[in-house]
Amino acid sequence: TFVVTEACIQCKYTDCVSVCPMDCFMEGPNYLVINPDECIDCSICVPECPVNAIVSDHEIADDQKHFIDINRELSQNPGWKRISRVKEPMPDHERWAAVKDKLQYLQH
Ligand code: SF4
Ligand code: F3S
Repeated sequence: TFVVTEACIQCKYTDCVSVCPMDCFMEGPNYLVINPDECIDCSICVPECPVNAIVSDHEIADDQKHFIDINRELSQNPGWKRISRVKEPMPDHERWAAVKDKLQYLQH
């Protein structure tokens, strides 16, 4: 399956959602996740993300592996809604795109 990693947090560009044939992106306040039970591994969302946040669970870096569980868990969060249309990114997304260790800012 494909996984949304830390780079998405506080940026949420949403370019990824418009190409997904399964509509399996779920949206929270400042981050998106992929529902791993619905993703068909087509990979077409990967090049859409301006901050390269989407990676295969087979190729995910060690320091991002915890996002596999985060995607699975948050995709079942009742407050998170399916998103399939592009919308404006988060305010200040350009500044946040350069920030590391953003997990502490994840809202859910
Ligand atoms: Fe959707 Fe394909 Fe991306 Fe999975 S890999 S989230 S099915 S676009
Ligand atoms: Fe996030 Fe990239 Fe999609 S920033 S919302 S994974 S385009």
